[in-house]
Amino acid sequence: MNSYLDDKNGFYGDFGGTFIPEILWINFKELKDSYESIILDPSFNKKFESLLNNYVGRPTPLFYCNELSKKYKTNIYLKREDLNHTGSHKINNTIGQALFAKQLGKKKIIAETGAGQHGIATATVCSLLSLECIIFMGETDILRQAINVSKMKMLGAKIIPATTGNKTLKDAINEALRYWINHPECYYLIGSVVGPHPYPKIVAYFQSIISKEIKKQLQEKKGITQPNYIITCIGGGSNSIGAFYHFLENASVKLIAVESAGLGIYTNKTAATTIQGSKGVIHGSLTFVMQDKYGQIIDPYSISAGMDYPGIGPMHANLFHTQRVKFFNVTDNDVLQAAYEISQIEGIIPALESAHALAILPKISFKKEDIVVINLSGRGDKDLKNYIRHLNQFLK
Ligand SMILES: Cc1ncc(COP(=O)(O)O)c(C=O)c1O
Repeated sequence: MNSYLDDKNGFYGDFGGTFIPEILWINFKELKDSYESIILDPSFNKKFESLLNNYVGRPTPLFYCNELSKKYKTNIYLKREDLNHTGSHKINNTIGQALFAKQLGKKKIIAETGAGQHGIATATVCSLLSLECIIFMGETDILRQAINVSKMKMLGAKIIPATTGNKTLKDAINEALRYWINHPECYYLIGSVVGPHPYPKIVAYFQSIISKEIKKQLQEKKGITQPNYIITCIGGGSNSIGAFYHFLENASVKLIAVESAGLGIYTNKTAATTIQGSKGVIHGSLTFVMQDKYGQIIDPYSISAGMDYPGIGPMHANLFHTQRVKFFNVTDNDVLQAAYEISQIEGIIPALESAHALAILPKISFKKEDIVVINLSGRGDKDLKNYIRHLNQFLK
């Protein structure tokens, strides 16, 4: 039994649960009553794994970075989630949940998206499995991620803009939940390990393929079963939990999650939840959240659309609270620098989100024999506008 997983009420230590309006209760009853028997069923897992292998292109490589290792005087491997179909880890979860939705007899999927990666992954899988698809996206993000919006439309999805708050991810989730109340026949395909129980558990399960593969690949490449470090970026926490999952009980594996400091942790332009946040409820889950003294959510900021969520999932809240995972944060500037560095020395343009994990490298002293695995959650095509804007600043 993994002590970092949920109890029977969907709590991770003090965090988690199902804090929802009564009107949504019927939607959650259906999920709670059925998810375990469906997603743990061997025939379901066979279908899931077959699509991961043949459609997504898994397993993703565990790539040894010569130059990065030399520079930081250690052994750095990248788990290449950027090489998945649609360009990030998000598709692992969307395939799993779309298959689950079909099994429940659902024909219409709703989802939120921030960076657009979850939206694209959802639209892609809906196209593949003949499901109707509606994506909620904040107006600010629609402008920041215009190409992803066009891709989602091309894949057949309908986009509904969220026009409240700072018009980013949290507002898109609010809109999606509001829509779901009035359309309980839909399946809400949530994109991270956030939201009411059982969503964090379902998403973590589907993303755990990442650490399952890391374990196997380390055995094949190095004859070991665990690295010294696993480093991930954390928005809501899905790529992070995926990379940590099968190592949570191995106390000797140091687990590091990197948040977005934005313009700085003590400015009002940040998304560093573990620094700025406190215990509270967001999107139906008791977790860490950035809130004012009246419990109102503080709008987060990050250069990266997938990182500016004002909370972390409940599983991470517990991992932070118990200190099983160490949380760091890096500024927008650190992130751009790291993205340019890896582009120029390893030939890989990372997503801005993933560059948060890379940006921590100069801030940690590794031993030369350490094995360090960084989860490269996505590729940088969607962020080119931002990278081009800073080209002169970072080109040598
Ligand atoms: C490439 C990439 N990495 C990371 C994230 C952050 O999400 P999560 O913390 O759920 O992995 C996103 C979110 O959109 C993303 O697109």
